[in-house]
Amino acid sequence: MSDEGQPDPTPSDALVFFGVAGDLAFKKIFPSLLAMAKRGRLKVPVIGVARAAWDVEKFRAHARESIEAHGSFDAAAFDTLSGLLRYVGGDYNEAGTYEALRRELGAAQHPAHYLAIPPSMFGPVVQRLSESGCAQGARVIVEKPFGRDRASAQGLNQILLGSFDEAHIFRIDHYLGKQPVHNMVFFRFANAFLEPVWNRKHVESVQITMAENFGVQGRGAFFEQTGTMRDVVQNHLFQVLANLAMEPPARGDSESMRDEKVKVLRSIPPLCAHDLVRGQFEGYRREKGVASDSQVETFAALRLHIDSWRWQGVPFYIRAGKSLPVTCAEVIVRLRCPPKIFPACEAGANHVRFRISPDEAIAFGMTVMDNAERGTGQPIELHDDHRPDAGSIDAYERLLGDAMCGDSTLFAREDYVEEAWRIVDPVLGQATPVHAYEPDTWGPAEAEAITPPGGWVAPIVGM
Ligand code: BG6
Repeated sequence: MSDEGQPDPTPSDALVFFGVAGDLAFKKIFPSLLAMAKRGRLKVPVIGVARAAWDVEKFRAHARESIEAHGSFDAAAFDTLSGLLRYVGGDYNEAGTYEALRRELGAAQHPAHYLAIPPSMFGPVVQRLSESGCAQGARVIVEKPFGRDRASAQGLNQILLGSFDEAHIFRIDHYLGKQPVHNMVFFRFANAFLEPVWNRKHVESVQITMAENFGVQGRGAFFEQTGTMRDVVQNHLFQVLANLAMEPPARGDSESMRDEKVKVLRSIPPLCAHDLVRGQFEGYRREKGVASDSQVETFAALRLHIDSWRWQGVPFYIRAGKSLPVTCAEVIVRLRCPPKIFPACEAGANHVRFRISPDEAIAFGMTVMDNAERGTGQPIELHDDHRPDAGSIDAYERLLGDAMCGDSTLFAREDYVEEAWRIVDPVLGQATPVHAYEPDTWGPAEAEAITPPGGWVAPIVGM
């Protein structure tokens, strides 16, 4: 065991996976485990735990089905993974389930317990892990949503901290595991040219868009409990914002990095109703599990201020939603316009664009001379042509691997999560009205009230 709060690099010697029969496991986690096995990063038993009355063969068949549907099947890697799989079936509330788990853990001293289960189950599972001795020397990895507001997040933290110290708690936000999100911090601090302009003197505004051109995909009941603010804004998009706005860390270690991110959030005042417009796409109320008079948002546009020395006065805009015209996540950092010198040239603002998905890019927008005689200019973008190699690590592979090695850098710390909730708490739920919008549009007309100077830049996908 490490000293209280200090990172503990002891590798986990088993991965216990609660919620193996769930949707997340099926769509994302088995393919990532296969990729880990293929890369030689997974060599310890993987013990699935779920209520389903399966045996290990059924568990293996389920893993295979998931990988065939959502990953790229590789027979040799699957043999390796298959050989590591074990299964414990049982009720999460029953002591017997944890006795069986303890037996299955055998000689493992430092298991990592991955809870891909509803947050309402965190308490009972953590308590049983403790009582059965399974929490000793262990790590716990928890999935989002981490609470529904600040008070419930504090409650969850208390539950976890009752059995694990902070250095052994890993709160997953899969956006942090995405290479282009991680690269924002790397790119900012591995280069010198950005820093002189990365502040209130030169940056006019920042806009972050996370658009999805599909609806709730059968997750209506889940979405009714979350909505866009809780589903992606408070977590994924605040992480992007923190990466863009943080100060250089004192050192490259996990706590120095996470200290800087928390400082960004501490500088953000709580949101007011006039800084948020919520929307709901037409047809959402007909989804299974959705109330016919639902007030839950499937779209949010908001404006934030970071009251720090670097950013005071620079508005940060976020818009996110389902059933929008494209699927794309990107950031535009818009610089202030240059003074006008050339009479025929309307030189626009320069910008830096970070594309997170579906492709990855960094681009710089600028004006070049178009026609020497007329003295006109045209906007161009300089693109980064570097593409991560085909074998690059996906978000869950990176995060599960990091957690099992005790590297907390890409996980949300207790204070960070609570600060993020503090910012959105006043506008959660029905604090503001929800406005209808047509699918395949950029949200309700009311969202115009939250428009960055110069307008939203509609992402062009497939460039
Ligand atoms: C999840 C949200 O956390 O992130 C989903 O619950 C959203 O609603 C998803 O679609 C987006 O992540 P990605 O990696 O698929 O872009």
